[in-house]
Parts: sequence; structure tokens; C-alpha cells
Amino acid sequence: MIGNTEISWGWMAKLFHWLMFLVIVGAYVAVNMHEMFEEGSAQRDWWMMLHKSCGLTVFVLVWLRLGWRMGQPVPENFAGPLMSKLASIGHGLLYLLMIVVPASALLMSQLAGYPVSWFGLVELPVWLDVNKELAGQLKDLHAEVLAPALFVLIIAHLLGALWHHYFDKDDILKRMLPFWRSRGL
Ligand code: HEM
Ligand code: HEM
Repeated sequence: MIGNTEISWGWMAKLFHWLMFLVIVGAYVAVNMHEMFEEGSAQRDWWMMLHKSCGLTVFVLVWLRLGWRMGQPVPENFAGPLMSKLASIGHGLLYLLMIVVPASALLMSQLAGYPVSWFGLVELPVWLDVNKELAGQLKDLHAEVLAPALFVLIIAHLLGALWHHYFDKDDILKRMLPFWRSRGL
């Protein structure tokens, strides 16, 4: 089913979840790969282009995902009041970081005067006046605070999902998997 029910995620929500997972992993892999090549080399620039393209994709996808979510029931989390409160705070923070991690970098690129290319197909022009100092601060915020915070949260989220599967032995992890169908509703 395309939409969610009270107890299961529809395929659209699952598609958004796993597509987002792939592009976020892509962004982390690409930025680490770019560091393996010398400054000014074509490979380094290529990996950075890939990093920015994945990041820009995250920024577009997150709004579409939130828009879709607003018109949908959200499956109930049956892990108890404290754990489900923690899970919704965690999910809220994940959404927030999926916005501010790429947004901080897009603003940084604007203030540094660099256009951002999306896989070499579309180019986001520079609209703002250059301010190198602020751009430098945003780079530190993006690379040293926000992106690591997203990473930590993703690991906690992953551990939470595994906890459900191996310790609580419930369907929470399984119900986000692509081909799993609820036996209930
Ligand atoms: C969810 C999306 C994104 C994630 C998870 C992410 C993650 C990261 C991480 C982890 C770093 C630090 C790399 C390091 O110092 O080892 C970084 C640096 C950087 N990111 Fe992103 N980023 C994202 C989106 C973007 C976007 C949209 C842009 C460009 C518009 C961008 C441009 C940069 C730049 C220029 C750096 C500095 C690279 C350097 O120090 O040479 N990022 N990013
Ligand atoms: C880039 C990495 C990831 C991000 C940003 C992310 C983000 C999210 C968000 C925001 C939700 C809440 C959905 C909503 O309420 O609309 C969610 C749900 C979920 N995620 Fe992830 N996720 C990531 C990776 C993973 C991984 C690796 C797993 C498991 C192996 C996983 C398992 C789940 C499960 C099982 C749910 C559903 C929880 C429930 O049914 O109550 N996620 N994820």
C-alpha cells in the first residue's frame, strides 16, 4: 500500500526512508574519499562534487518527505511511554538535522561565492554577497558540529532499531523493511 496505516508504513514512507539513507551514506563516503586525494586534483574535486550533490538531494528530499508525512497517519510506537517519547524526540532531531546539515553547507557555499552543482546537471547560482569569514565559521559548524551530531544520532537510531529486533523481539525494525507486510491491518 502506498500510504501508512495505524500500524504499518506504506511503501512511499519506506522509499523516502531508504532513499534518504542511501544519499546520506553517499555524502559521508564521498567527503571521506575526497580527503584521500591531493588538493587541486580532479579526483578530489569529483568526490567533493558528489558530496555536495548527495547533500543537496537530502535537502530537497527532506521537504518532500515531511510534506508526504503530514497527510499520513504515523504508525503507533508500542514500546511503552518513555521509549516511544525518546523515539519521537530522536526522530524529530533526525528530521531537524536532515535540514540544518545541508542548509548550513549551502549557506556556506553561497557566502564563499561557490556555485553548487547537482551531479553536473544543474547548477545552483550564487545569490548572496561573499563573506569569507562567516563562510569559514559555517564550514566549521557544518563539518565539526552538525554533521558529526547527525552521525551520532543515526548510530543511536540504528542501535534502537536493533534493540527492538533482538531484545524486545517486536516488529518495529521489520515494519520499516521494504518487503515486510503487516499481519494486522
Ligand atoms: C546531509 C548532508 C550532508 C552531510 C551528512 C555532510 C557531511 C559532512 C562531513 C562529515 C564533513 C566533514 C568532513 C571532514 O572534515 O572530515 C563535511 C564537510 C563539508 N561539506 Fe558536507 N555534508 C552534507 C551536505 C553538504 C552540502 C549540501 C554541501 C555543499 C553545498 C556540503 C559541503 C561541504 C564542504 C565544502 C565541506 C568541507 C570539506 C573540507 O573540509 O574540505 N556538505 N560534510
Ligand atoms: C541515514 C540514516 C537514517 C535516518 C536519517 C533515519 C531517519 C528516520 C526517521 C526520521 C524515522 C521516523 C519516521 C517518521 O516518523 O516519519 C525513522 C524510522 C525508522 N528507522 Fe530510520 N533512519 C536512518 C537509518 C536507519 C537504519 C540503518 C535502520 C535500521 C536498520 C532504521 C530503522 C528505522 C525503523 C525501524 C524506523 C521505524 C520506527 C517505527 O516504526 O516506529 N533507520 N528513521
